[in-house]
Amino acid sequence: MDRHYDAVIVGAGLAGLRAAIELAGRARVAVISKVFATRSHSGAAQGGIGAAIGNEEEDRWEWHMFDTVKGSDYLGDQDAIEVMAKDAPRTIYELEHLGVPFNRTRDGRIAQRAFGGHTRDFGKAPVKRACYAADRTGRVILDTLWEQSLRKGIDFFDEYHVLSLMINGSSCSGVVAYELATGAIVGFHSKAVLLATGGAGRIFKVTSNALASTGDGMAMAYRAGAPLEDMEFVQFHPTGIYKLGILISEAARGEGGVLRNAKGERFMEHYAPVIKDLAPRDMVSRCILEEIRAGRGIDGKDFVHLDLTHLGQDVIGHKLAEIAGFAKTYAGVDPAREPIPVHPTCHYMMGGIAANADGEVVVDAGATPLPGLFAAGECACVSVHGANRLGCNSLLDTLVFGRRTGGAIRDFIQTVKAPKPSDAFRKKAESRMAELLAIEGPEQIGAVMTELQHTMMEHVSVFRHAKGLQAALANIRELKERCARIAILDKGKCFNRNLLDSIELGQMLDLAEVITLGALYRGESRGAHWREDFPKRDDEKFLHHTMVHLSGGAPQIFSRPVAITRFEPRERTY
Ligand code: FUM
Repeated sequence: MDRHYDAVIVGAGLAGLRAAIELAGRARVAVISKVFATRSHSGAAQGGIGAAIGNEEEDRWEWHMFDTVKGSDYLGDQDAIEVMAKDAPRTIYELEHLGVPFNRTRDGRIAQRAFGGHTRDFGKAPVKRACYAADRTGRVILDTLWEQSLRKGIDFFDEYHVLSLMINGSSCSGVVAYELATGAIVGFHSKAVLLATGGAGRIFKVTSNALASTGDGMAMAYRAGAPLEDMEFVQFHPTGIYKLGILISEAARGEGGVLRNAKGERFMEHYAPVIKDLAPRDMVSRCILEEIRAGRGIDGKDFVHLDLTHLGQDVIGHKLAEIAGFAKTYAGVDPAREPIPVHPTCHYMMGGIAANADGEVVVDAGATPLPGLFAAGECACVSVHGANRLGCNSLLDTLVFGRRTGGAIRDFIQTVKAPKPSDAFRKKAESRMAELLAIEGPEQIGAVMTELQHTMMEHVSVFRHAKGLQAALANIRELKERCARIAILDKGKCFNRNLLDSIELGQMLDLAEVITLGALYRGESRGAHWREDFPKRDDEKFLHHTMVHLSGGAPQIFSRPVAITRFEPRERTY
């Protein structure tokens, strides 16, 4: 079957929906999502969305920009960060007008709370910059944008898994998708495609990410020849519930929660004397693991405590209700009475599909766009987060760049004719699916997936060194070979999870290879990428973006310069 649109958006999280709203009424738009739209992982974002609106205390967009640049360990592109920090206040008021139920101050303005790495006056002290709706901020924004999208008549194709991009010569003209309910392969022909498919945290054993976060858009773009940028920078959020990785929002520390070691010490005071528990995530995650390595984990184990007991039932009940429920359900503790056992959890990919601030996917060091292909949100690397993203900047990124990308697509589709439909891409996908179903090999998805997740956790997580990275790379390459011998036991057409798991696993292996190659290449420590064999940042050799693309079927690395406009790189202390 074939369908025809002006623009196809893959992913129904915040970036995709915000772009769709921008296009509504001006173009025929389809939003395709492998999950029901409101189950997109944006809905799991908890603590807040950053903007210097200064409702609780003085704040300025320049301070927000500085914090983001410093938080990125000076790898973020400052021209793009400026765009984001300047546009943040407008974004918040737009959300308010669309109906997002933010928490309020006593005098009725949008309330704000502190978040890691956000400061006033260029680093002097923490500032309240995150606008929030209790600890369900992503949930309420996602529901609001979804309702607005329905109101504007956007077509949704929920539970369609996009398999590949249609790249004709040097431009993109649609996608091929698999309808989960029927097994039908559908060609979506369009003048423009936006990839807004989110992150890939499921590559790691312990993660805060939903099951759907398997990096589909990144892998699809990479396989189609587009470069992935800065993939070695993987964020571990400091406070995942011990063993499970379920997120306990940074808002808990923003509201006054503190981390404690086995001696009951508030250990972040030693590592970050100015902003303490509100240091950026890369630092706090490393500090937790340093405490554990020094034998100060709770009961000698590999976790520490997040102590909220002094906050009181009222603050916890009104502002942190969701995480209080998680702590009770998954860790068996009532945070008003007992500390929560926590450990770093894989949370966010700073890297992604190389894109400019208008969401155009770029293919070389000169930032040449690939006509018709766009990317926004976590699957894209604009790059506003550089080597380490600050908390509450991700929701902002999705909305600022989702909107800009929607606008760029609106302009782009005026300039091109509808592509000549071809059923070649659909037919190729049909053959590929038939081939996958016919494999009689001895391997099982679960075993390969589990090994990948363990390897990535052991060798490519918070602390890295060359030996471990080489071992990981060898293992990933062996797992790729095994993946090609996986037997799909379910041969049916209706919700064939077995088939889709195998497709997702193949994509995750490609991304794991790129992450590990980038981590091996970058012989320095910067942001979330910490090399124990190169424990210093090396601006002389590595103040550039790592780009990995497929050339002749194998990954190749090249680099792209960092845009430095206002803030020269300096040592990062907090
Ligand atoms: O901790 C959190 O609430 C997560 C926020 C974020 O990743 O921006």
